[in-house]
This record gives sequence, structure tokens and C-alpha cells, in this order.
Amino acid sequence: MNRSVIVAANWKMNGNLALIKEMTSALANVSLSSNTCVVVCPSFPYLSAFAQARVDKALDKKIMLGSQNASEHQQGAFTGEVSNSMLQEFGVNYVILGHSERRSINKETSTLVAHKVRSVLDAGMTPILCIGESEQERETGQTNVVLAAQLQPVIDEIGIEKFADVVIAYEPVWAIGTGKTASPELAQETHQYIRQFIADINQPIAEKLSILYGGSVNAANCQQLFAQSDIDGGLIGGASLKVDEFTKICSTV
Ligand code: PGA
Repeated sequence: MNRSVIVAANWKMNGNLALIKEMTSALANVSLSSNTCVVVCPSFPYLSAFAQARVDKALDKKIMLGSQNASEHQQGAFTGEVSNSMLQEFGVNYVILGHSERRSINKETSTLVAHKVRSVLDAGMTPILCIGESEQERETGQTNVVLAAQLQPVIDEIGIEKFADVVIAYEPVWAIGTGKTASPELAQETHQYIRQFIADINQPIAEKLSILYGGSVNAANCQQLFAQSDIDGGLIGGASLKVDEFTKICSTV
């Protein structure tokens, strides 16, 4: 099965106009394999600058634009929120949802994340649905239960067929920003579980589903991770802010 391979940069609350300039110039010189897609997700204020830089450097077919969040509402009195139609108007193709930082800091529940997934799909964009267990959950053998509990509300909300338009990012919370990457074997085992969970409901959808790994991915460890049969790319945080690292990751995939 030839699944699309995605390398997504999650800049979090980092980056600036200078980084956009540097990164787009560097990405212009990276050659990507034909089934690979690079997505860069800067903060909201930088989306249009990134979109413009892409066009200026003729990268609009090569590099996709992503947002790190979106409101579940369409419009209205939601001060500080950004809607999917606004993102779509600015050329956003992907939206990261359910990142563990939003689940823990902003108290986003799996039910809310499921509503957001629906809104992103309704606006014609692709959700990158993040799921992952904490260190304590891993140590007490609850990983699979936790992942299932994060996936099920989304399946209930959108139906399994819509997963054809969803990307999953498995990000063990203990590996995010810690330098403690999951071993390729452990990541593969967990990705296989996620794919099987979907396959138990709909095999063809599971076969086509891109499942990215995230959590301290860098230029040195990405090759082994990406070589695993159920890992279809990565969601990259810290290393995506370093032009050399990120371009190496993109070339590796
Ligand atoms: P990291 O972050 O690569 O810095 O661990 C990944 C993420 O949070 O998406």
C-alpha cells in the first residue's frame, strides 16, 4: 500500500518572519520523493506571510500550509478564536488538532477535539489528529486503552469513512520536547495497534491512513523511525525550527 508520507513542522509559539524567509529558501532546494508532502504550521499571525513566501518561491505545490489549532465554531462571539473558514481563506490545507499541549494546558477533551475534526473536514481541510499517552499511562500498561479512548469519540463524530481524509499523529507525551524519542520498535508497535484499531472497523480505510510519529524526532533518528512499516512520516516540533535539521528530515523521508 502506497500511503502518502507527510513531514509536518509544528512551530508551536516560536518562529518569526526571518525564520519563514530562511525556511522557505532552504526548502526550495530540497528534493522530495513524489508521494511526500511537507506541511509547515506557524502561529496564526504568520500564516499569510508563509503563504506569500511559498508563492514567491514557487513552493505552493511543494509545501503545504498548516495551522496549529482552529475553533470548533463557524463564527460569532468567540473572542480570540479563529475559524476554519478564515484559515481556508488564507490557503491553509492542514490543521493540527488535539495536540497534547492543548489537551493539557487548554483542557481540550477528546469530545471537543472530535467536534473540531468535523469542522476542519467540513471546511475542506485535513485534520492532523494527535493522540498519545503519558509516561505514567505507558508505565502502567494503559497505552492502548488511552489511544482507543482518544480515537473513539472522533470515529463516533465523523464516521469511519471520513478517516480517509484524516491524518493521525501518534505523539507519546513523554517524548514531546524531552529528547526521549520512542524506539523505532516501540513506535512501530503502537502505530500497528492504531492501524489495527481502525482496521477492525474498516480495513481499506486503515490501509490508506497516514499515521505520523511525533516526539523528539530529529535528523539523526528520523531515518530509522520512518523505515518502520506503519510510520508514514513525522510531526516535528523543536527540530522544525532549525533549518538544517528540518531540511535533512524532509530529504530523508
Ligand atoms: P518535539 O515536538 O519534536 O519538540 O518533541 C513534537 C510536537 O509536539 O509536535
